[in-house]
Amino acid sequence: MAQVSVSMLSADFLHLDRDVRMVNAYADMFHLDIMDGTFVPNISYGFPVVEAIASIAEKPLDTHLMIVRPEKYVERFAKAGSSLLSFHLNATDDPDAVLSQIHDHGMKAGIAINPDIPVERLFPYLDGCDFILLMSVFAGFGGQKFIEDTYGRIRELKAEIVRKGLPCLIEVDGGVSEKNASELNAAGADILVSGSAVFKAIDPASAISSMR
Ligand code: DX5
Ligand code: ZN
Repeated sequence: MAQVSVSMLSADFLHLDRDVRMVNAYADMFHLDIMDGTFVPNISYGFPVVEAIASIAEKPLDTHLMIVRPEKYVERFAKAGSSLLSFHLNATDDPDAVLSQIHDHGMKAGIAINPDIPVERLFPYLDGCDFILLMSVFAGFGGQKFIEDTYGRIRELKAEIVRKGLPCLIEVDGGVSEKNASELNAAGADILVSGSAVFKAIDPASAISSMR
């Protein structure tokens, strides 16, 4: 059984409270995608939206930073209500320091990598991570097609986590739907991020429950 973290990038921002209540009722976490237009070509949303979601969220905020120099904003996202915070491996010069900073602010810490970065690049940092955010699309946009190589990458990462006996979880992000959820879970994914497949579903609650 996997946890489902719903990506609010695909929510209806004119009816955000309705979509937040749906996640409260049926999912495990809110996945909040923060894009700066520099680390990725797109710009998403910032603190006012995160704080508005936090004000009525009854599930943890799982914030995914797609920004350069994530160390500058760790404290702000802690104050805004994030419980989990991830940043991209190649967005900072000192990943270990950012992991410690996230922990010092009382949050769970994760490192994200895009599909073109070898999984082994994460191995030196695994003992400092509560989770890894393995991208199954290139970070930047919702609604992209799932990259099939992801299964092998999950298995490779899982094998190293098990070999070291670490509690690090694997979160998979991008193109996740009812079609691939069970295979992702079988490969070793613990948390599934899903945006467009949830919000485009006729019945989001049943889409989430079948992904779990
Ligand atoms: C992509 C984001 C994802 C995305 C997932 O840059 O990190 O979290 O919103 O959305 P779907 O499920 O639509 O691929
Ligand atoms: Zn994301």
